[in-house]
Amino acid sequence: MCGIIGYLGPKSPVNVLLEGLKKLEYRGYDSAGLAVVKGKEIYLCRVKGKIKDLEANLRANPIDGHYGLGHTRWATHGRPSEINAHPHRDCEGNIVVVHNGIIENYLSLKERLIKNGHVFKTETDTEVIAHLIEENFSGSLEEAVICAVQSMEGSFAFACLSPLDPEKIVGARSGPPLIVGIGEEEYFLASDVIPILDHTRRVVFMADQEIAILSRDGLKFFDFSGQPISKVSTELNWSPLMVEKRGFKHFMLKEIYEQPQVVRETLSEALSLDFGEVNLPELEAAKDRLKECRQAVIIACGTSYHAGLIGQIMLESLAALPTRVEYASEFRYRDILISPEDLIIAISQSGETADTLAAIRGLKGKSGPLLAICNVPGSSLVREAELTLLTQAGPEVGVAATKTFSAQIATLTLLALWLGRARGGLEKEKAIEIMLELQRIPHRMEQILNNKERVENLAYRFSSYSHFLYLGRWISYPVALEGALKLKEISYIHAEGYAGGEMKHGPIALIDEKMPTLAVIPKDRVFEKMLSNINEIKARDGIVIALTDNQAELENHVDYFLPIPSTHPLLSPFLTVLPLQLFAYTIAYRLGADVDQPRNLAKSVTVE
Ligand code: F6R
Repeated sequence: MCGIIGYLGPKSPVNVLLEGLKKLEYRGYDSAGLAVVKGKEIYLCRVKGKIKDLEANLRANPIDGHYGLGHTRWATHGRPSEINAHPHRDCEGNIVVVHNGIIENYLSLKERLIKNGHVFKTETDTEVIAHLIEENFSGSLEEAVICAVQSMEGSFAFACLSPLDPEKIVGARSGPPLIVGIGEEEYFLASDVIPILDHTRRVVFMADQEIAILSRDGLKFFDFSGQPISKVSTELNWSPLMVEKRGFKHFMLKEIYEQPQVVRETLSEALSLDFGEVNLPELEAAKDRLKECRQAVIIACGTSYHAGLIGQIMLESLAALPTRVEYASEFRYRDILISPEDLIIAISQSGETADTLAAIRGLKGKSGPLLAICNVPGSSLVREAELTLLTQAGPEVGVAATKTFSAQIATLTLLALWLGRARGGLEKEKAIEIMLELQRIPHRMEQILNNKERVENLAYRFSSYSHFLYLGRWISYPVALEGALKLKEISYIHAEGYAGGEMKHGPIALIDEKMPTLAVIPKDRVFEKMLSNINEIKARDGIVIALTDNQAELENHVDYFLPIPSTHPLLSPFLTVLPLQLFAYTIAYRLGADVDQPRNLAKSVTVE
């Protein structure tokens, strides 16, 4: 939902900002712009379109300066256009602002500002920030920002500069993320760490209601009431290589192929096979409370929600812990009875999803421990949760989540094993059996990824179809949902994920030879039941592609196979999801879709 970057230092700001914006583009990509300051002049370049369009424009009309701001947009207020592209300016063009989020009271602010004589040029909510700062400016940019934020409502992160208070960038956060990077005599302000990894790994994560002032004299922080605050920096262990494509056509494909390693890394320190124990030191201090929990409530959105559905089955089966899974966007508006014995598990790749954050904030003081499963250290979710299990996926750049999903289910498996042992319901022998098989999962994943031709051939064969059904039962049901989501979001083809047993209650009416079914049917406790559902589809002229480790028993029942290796039934999602990710990727690629940046989407959904 929009990416912000600011740079102050000895390098050419245009290059730093442009390269940074390329790495932020996954947050929004309908228009882009940057502003640099040279002496008293501000030079601005904005385009409708992607960063490559901004780059082309800058090549044709070069600008230069000493420090500056950049922005890539995912439109909320005002259609994507050059005029609505950030940076935005005040009446005199002396104050420049880039913004991520929504100023909810912008209409009333705008009305008031217009009455005071301000002239607006765009349809955006962002422009009010520039005018508010202008109205409060009397020489100090930070003082004007401190005044401006008092009247702003909503969720926002913004950065601003002005040659009237030169050599300074001021950033404010109330909602969406903002981090400060500290390099050699240089500072960065950005929506996340990815664009600054080429320059530094030392970062300060800003919290809500905080203001950062980057200047040649150093770095300062204030809260929204204007009180100075001290912040500590963190050294990240992410490397710039992690955000390169490294020979793959797309980030999504690279990230699909990283999954075996991601799972390996997640498991590496955690499994203690001799004792049938899982080591999760992050949870030790809260062990007594965790093992006494009455139920777990998993809260998440999108792909993370699908991982949560798998986690539910793991927690019920391995830890005998009653578990509910809730869409954060629905949960936050319900009158839900939560007690202090309830464990809340919030799952989010980014840790910045507005609905997930709002849902957990609504539970403060009512629930038991809040455990975050998150991929981004220092994110809002991590900072607000009492306990955190950081997933070991490294930065995920492709907008469609792939490796973070595998990292989430690996972490949920460890959590279920840990809780099962802590609560006493899981026998050591059963834990060891699953742990042994878990260790083999990365290798089995590699077997699938090294034999991708069959998936690709099928994807080519079916790329002209307009509708797909994805079916699964029990632990394969969330995988069916996830497979359908992947196809929808990157290829724009209609796909429905459905529970196999629900077919006869309606969706079976859709079946004909134009709507192929991908049936996720590993050999598990519902194999026979799924087979009946497949037969019901075949009886209605449907085409069935089966993902299975049991080809022999399906030989005369389906049209095509996507074979997967056998594993423990609880672990099959690690394997079944891979052909579905590759299937979606290959179709989208074949159709010429923008795989890494699908239309209308953004990686981190920081608005409601
Ligand atoms: C789908 C996808 C989204 C996210 C959802 C939640 O590929 O990426 O559905 O899963 O927006 O995001 P996080 O996990 O960051 O809370």
